[in-house]
Amino acid sequence: MYLYPKWIRIWHVINALVFLILIVTGLSMQYTDKENATYVVGFAKAVRMHNFAALILVINYIFFVCGNFLSKNGSYYRISRKNFMPDLIRQYKFYSSGMFKGEKHPFPVTEERKFNPLQKITYVLALYVAVPLLIISGIGLLLPEITITTIFGISGLILTDILHITMGFFLSIFMIIHIYTCTLGHKPTSLFRGIITGYHVSEDE
Ligand code: HEM
Repeated sequence: MYLYPKWIRIWHVINALVFLILIVTGLSMQYTDKENATYVVGFAKAVRMHNFAALILVINYIFFVCGNFLSKNGSYYRISRKNFMPDLIRQYKFYSSGMFKGEKHPFPVTEERKFNPLQKITYVLALYVAVPLLIISGIGLLLPEITITTIFGISGLILTDILHITMGFFLSIFMIIHIYTCTLGHKPTSLFRGIITGYHVSEDE
């Protein structure tokens, strides 16, 4: 099944690389000691690299949103209220016990359903909630003059910083879990092959 068009594969590889750069340079800025020690990348270089990678992330993100809006790919992200919780629980039970007993995937991939319910909700939360908040708070930190000075007596810049770091943290955890769940296809390498070649190989092929 051809499920990953070229544009989504290009978006994905750029997104994954840029995320890795943002994580490394973000942690470098967080932990580099003002007086001396450098953590992986020196502070000034980390700032420059972080800003540049963020710019690429934003352009790439706009490309992702427009691509999903204009193509069939967007339909895979639509969440239906019907059976929402029961389906999530079914998928969770498969990941937590069913797959260890050799059970079949409860929501096999089809032309109409690329993602299982857990994948869909995590992709929507990551791409349509966490990434926009990460970008907005990042712009707030880059341009402090446009950031609200105080909110209920607390510095707006500190709150923006906390939001940015929290989203960065959640997305880093997302990425680790995402890579792990991507090993749970028909074979450990099947889903990785899919996002590189465009073709998904299902259990019965
Ligand atoms: C080195 C890092 C990464 C690897 C190895 C990786 C691997 C994969 C693989 C194998 C797939 C295909 C399986 C599927 O459709 O679920 C996939 C799809 C996807 N990944 Fe990643 N990923 C990485 C980073 C990221 C990051 C950082 C994000 C977002 C913040 C992300 C978001 C997505 C999304 C939304 C899809 C589905 C795309 C679509 O078909 O519409 N990935 N990834």
